[in-house]
Amino acid sequence: MHKALPRVLLPILVAVSACGQQEPAETEVPEEPAAAATETEIDPARVTQGDRALNPGGLDDAALIARGGELWDDSSLSTNGSACSTCHVGNYALMKATFAEPYPHPVAMAKDRAGLDQVNAAEMVQLCMIVPMANEPLAWDSQELAALSAYVEHIRPGFDPAATAAGANPCNPCAGNPCNPCAGNPCNPWAGNPCKG
Ligand code: HEC
Repeated sequence: MHKALPRVLLPILVAVSACGQQEPAETEVPEEPAAAATETEIDPARVTQGDRALNPGGLDDAALIARGGELWDDSSLSTNGSACSTCHVGNYALMKATFAEPYPHPVAMAKDRAGLDQVNAAEMVQLCMIVPMANEPLAWDSQELAALSAYVEHIRPGFDPAATAAGANPCNPCAGNPCNPCAGNPCNPWAGNPCKG
């Protein structure tokens, strides 16, 4: 009897710890059939940078990042009242594990919407301009695009997918949804969600 007890307990302990903190749940992006059916395919040429240079418009790196931070909060960039920060609360909400990797890297939204295998920071800005911000991409030689790209590059190394786990957080109603129902919602339930990492 004494020997049998640990054998019974062990699987239970393993199961309990698996539900606990260590393993951030899989950040694999689920299929989104509903969104795919209603959204228009994006011509990859609209988001692909190619050999077009970004234009910092005379700002040095620090000033460019600061400008990018202002634009991150600027809802006038969208046609639906969203700013980048409406979704990316605290910079990192809704970012998935791919954001931890240096650019260029694969992003599910880029693959699903524009058929692109990987994107750089500027291309990701353009993609979010078109998809969630429901607007035209920024001009490739605009200071705005250079600033937002610099800001994205600036915040990326601070991203901890295990801490944020937005794409895997079962408490996050917006997880993995490019048609984020929280967009433009001043009562955004995600903003104060205690489940946020
Ligand atoms: C309505 C919500 C929403 C808004 C507004 C939004 N995004 Fe996103 N963004 C997302 C979602 C969802 C993802 C995750 C896409 C994925 O991983 O497939 C994402 C991912 C990103 C990523 C990381 C992709 C990666 O893994 O490298 C960057 C960078 C980004 N957005 C920048 C922006 C910028 C810049 C703006 C404003 C111009 C913006 N986003 C506005 C929803 C939004």
